Amino acid sequence: MASARLKYLSLGVLVFQTTSLVLTMRYSRTLQAEGPRYLASSAVVVAEVMKILTCVLLVFKCPGYSMRALNSILRQEILHKPIETLKLAIPSGIYTLQNNLLYVALSNLDAATYQVTYQLKILTTALFSVSMLGRRLGVYQWLSLLILMAGVALVQWPSDSTAAPEKEAHSAGSQFVGVTAVLVACCSSGFAGVYFEKILKESKQSVWVRNIQLGMFGLVFGLFGMLAYDGERVRESGMFQGYNTVTWTVVALQALGGLVIAAVIKYADNILKGFATSLSIILSTLISYFLLQDFDPSRWSSTFGSESLLLYT
Ligand code: C5P
Repeated sequence: MASARLKYLSLGVLVFQTTSLVLTMRYSRTLQAEGPRYLASSAVVVAEVMKILTCVLLVFKCPGYSMRALNSILRQEILHKPIETLKLAIPSGIYTLQNNLLYVALSNLDAATYQVTYQLKILTTALFSVSMLGRRLGVYQWLSLLILMAGVALVQWPSDSTAAPEKEAHSAGSQFVGVTAVLVACCSSGFAGVYFEKILKESKQSVWVRNIQLGMFGLVFGLFGMLAYDGERVRESGMFQGYNTVTWTVVALQALGGLVIAAVIKYADNILKGFATSLSIILSTLISYFLLQDFDPSRWSSTFGSESLLLYT
């Protein structure tokens, strides 16, 4: 009963988090700020630190706010189990690769094509769930997955010709590179999500300890990424250049996203996660249309596409 409540609670929070992240990104995109723009690679590192700190707090809360208990859990579960900890380097490395592939994809494709193609991850996730977790899906479940995928793709498909010139700007060669990058990202998204689910569900270890392990590798990979891409700019103006309240909100929502995704994978599964994020795509489209009077599909998906690119790279 309690786990059913946690399942629907985590899915609900995921819908809320994804919708607000998209809308805040849209706002931060239209905001005219003075000075340099924040570094996306730094936002990734800060979000990773926020995730780790929140997870440490959650572990600290569990045995009754005891420093000694926290210290002992972290030592026993992370330091003294190097093999278990190392297992998390795999999804963490794959997520880092995926986030970079999405960068390659968005550099070579218009954002609408990218968004639509990326919905294929709903199917790859189902395929990995069947092959790695032995999950069985009935005909109606496969059918609903296909309908969901088609529906989400349609919502994001540009309805007028405004996206066409942008599309034409990409050569056939770069279109191929872009589509290949998205297809590989679809496979990595499905694999990393299901691998994390397998690790979570095969052991009794707390989801928050698992997330600390994942975040530690994510932080190391993220720091490397920041120094490689923006090392010069960080040395010149620091890693927090261009940060404002909206940036902090986006980073906090991004960190919340990682935590909620972990909870959804633990209490529900990756397939339901696909349904929840799809629902939020439809919800943000509706809010954008009815409340913000702001819906132009091609501009909308270009904005989010490039903004997620900024956060992910
Ligand atoms: O597109 P997809 O759903 O695969 O994206 C998942 C995102 O959530 C990745 O960017 C990954 O870094 C992040 N994540 C996380 N913590 C988890 C699982 C995923 O931050 N436990």
